[in-house]
Amino acid sequence: MHIMDRPILVTGGAGFIGSNFIVDQCKGEDAQLVNLDKLTYAGNLGNLAKVRAKPGYRFIEGDICDADLLARVFAEVRPRAVVHFAAESHVDRSIRAPDQFVLTNAVGTATLLQASQRYWDTLDSAFKSFFRFLHVSTDEVYGALRPGEPPFDEASPYDPRSPYSASKAASDHFARAWYETYGLPVVVTNCSNNYGPYQLPEKLIPLAILTALRGDKIPIYGDGQQIRDWLHVEDHCRALALVLRAGRVGETYNIGGEAERKNLDVAKCICLILDDIEPLPSGLNRADCIEFVRDRPGHDQRYAVNVSKIRTELGWRPIESFETGLRKTIHWYIRNVDWIESVRTGAYRKWVATHYEGAVQ
Ligand code: NAD
Ligand code: TYD
Repeated sequence: MHIMDRPILVTGGAGFIGSNFIVDQCKGEDAQLVNLDKLTYAGNLGNLAKVRAKPGYRFIEGDICDADLLARVFAEVRPRAVVHFAAESHVDRSIRAPDQFVLTNAVGTATLLQASQRYWDTLDSAFKSFFRFLHVSTDEVYGALRPGEPPFDEASPYDPRSPYSASKAASDHFARAWYETYGLPVVVTNCSNNYGPYQLPEKLIPLAILTALRGDKIPIYGDGQQIRDWLHVEDHCRALALVLRAGRVGETYNIGGEAERKNLDVAKCICLILDDIEPLPSGLNRADCIEFVRDRPGHDQRYAVNVSKIRTELGWRPIESFETGLRKTIHWYIRNVDWIESVRTGAYRKWVATHYEGAVQ
């Protein structure tokens, strides 16, 4: 079999970004993808309904911390690349229960790198130089910016501040270590906050859309002046496909939407769009439902990344502006009531119920 016909092994492909990536890749007729996912609370095979029956798609349930399983998967699948999304991804959960973040993000990534390298060592030289390990990470590893400071670039020092970002920083260091020490062809990407279809309503944008739709209170931490850079998930997936194809081995690429917004403005924008397309029967403005709640401990003030490297080297730029991407996303959530119902698991319900504990009166 030609190297290009070998599958891509995707970890965490039942999550938000991984499932968008798989669905996008499966648009290609000859796509071969194997999705290895533990199906934690964040994994939802419903996200992959469109590709489930495709002959080139296969799902394996499993944990990236399980070295024996990984050895069997690599021996059987013989992938041409690994795209590594699997992680615990929510900062608030990492504050409440950091253990699983250390396990999956740090230990799991090191275990996956070791399994990849052992497999890679067995390949012939042509296959070896073709193979890629794409490690998907976050801009949160760089720490927090103050307003007015220039965005982080690929040379910015690491300064993670939450258990989530610390565990992702550890995973980035392991990824680089496997490149430097064993020669594994690793490429790392660090992207800003994603939004779009299939994101669980534990993160700001889907949480605000779903609560605002119902006319419920929208919880904003602290004073809502914190800034995030917002990247539409489809723009992110396009960037990942490009980095996989043309990114230079051993390099890091920052990926961002060039769309910095204050949290409060994001919530207000969602309220205005919803008031326009689906006014509340009461006629009330949804922005009046914004409620300031107790701040997140160690809340990072601002994230933003400089995307000139991926722009000049690979010709990528985001297609969606924040306004077009947000409108599309709101329409998606309105149209996909069934999906929303399907993610109302016990874990999610409990999360939302405890979210308001810190309401500031
Ligand atoms: P997600 O939480 O929606 O999905 C994570 C997926 O990983 C789930 O399907 C889950 O079942 C799976 N998983 C978790 N632990 C696993 C394990 N031990 N073994 C195998 N599978 C496991 O996450 P996401 O938002 O899609 O993020 C994907 C990646 O992108 C993560 O590495 C995250 O750090 C990174 N990232 C996300 C964002 C964002 O805004 N969502 C921004 C920057 C970087
Ligand atoms: P989140 O979507 O959790 O992503 P991250 O913490 O990785 O940036 O949060 C985005 C921003 O929104 C962050 O500054 C925290 C804030 N936030 C709220 O104000 N209210 C909420 O209910 C949530 C979930 C987040």
